[in-house]
Amino acid sequence: MKNLVILVSGSGSNLQRIIDTVDSGEIPDAQISLVVADRECYGLERARNHNIENVLIPRGKNFSSELGKIIPENTDLIVLAGFLSILKPEFCENWNGKIINIHPALLPKYGGKGMWGHHVHHAVIDAKEKESGATVHFVTSGIDEGEAILQKSFEVTENDTAETLAEKVHKIEYEIFPEAINKVLGN
Ligand code: GAR
Repeated sequence: MKNLVILVSGSGSNLQRIIDTVDSGEIPDAQISLVVADRECYGLERARNHNIENVLIPRGKNFSSELGKIIPENTDLIVLAGFLSILKPEFCENWNGKIINIHPALLPKYGGKGMWGHHVHHAVIDAKEKESGATVHFVTSGIDEGEAILQKSFEVTENDTAETLAEKVHKIEYEIFPEAINKVLGN
């Protein structure tokens, strides 16, 4: 049985997708052993609703060291699912190859500090990009710089707004996230 720890900061719809795909067996032989949030958020509520062990570690300079203390040693994969704090380099090195993140753009474009959620979608619209998408990648100490695991794109049309892009990106995320988790777990 593979143990997943999921980190969230927001609505947690990607967490919900992981909960559902673990339950359905689409991600086989796995369990979510812990959900960690860096702020009160609906993602935490989803964990509570599903009786998944959960903890809130307030964001800030001690987040990574506090997380390091409570994360179970038998964790196979740490999954950042709409998680907005930056993990310290030491934490990333300790768990090298075992942390993945989902990013709402086609990295290496629109990554790095300050590029999250709606900021990404506004930047894509402002730059009149012809396509956008989502990327699942390994987490290293360089923000959004780790090797890509899966990426999928879609066409941006003239009528798209940051809000419609967010919806389209989420749809793609729900497809590629379970697939990327399976790939990393060797399923
Ligand atoms: C997702 O689109 C995810 O890619 C993005 O936040 C959203 C969270 O949605 N993550 C980032 O921007 C990280 N840099 P959710 O809470 O409904 O899963």
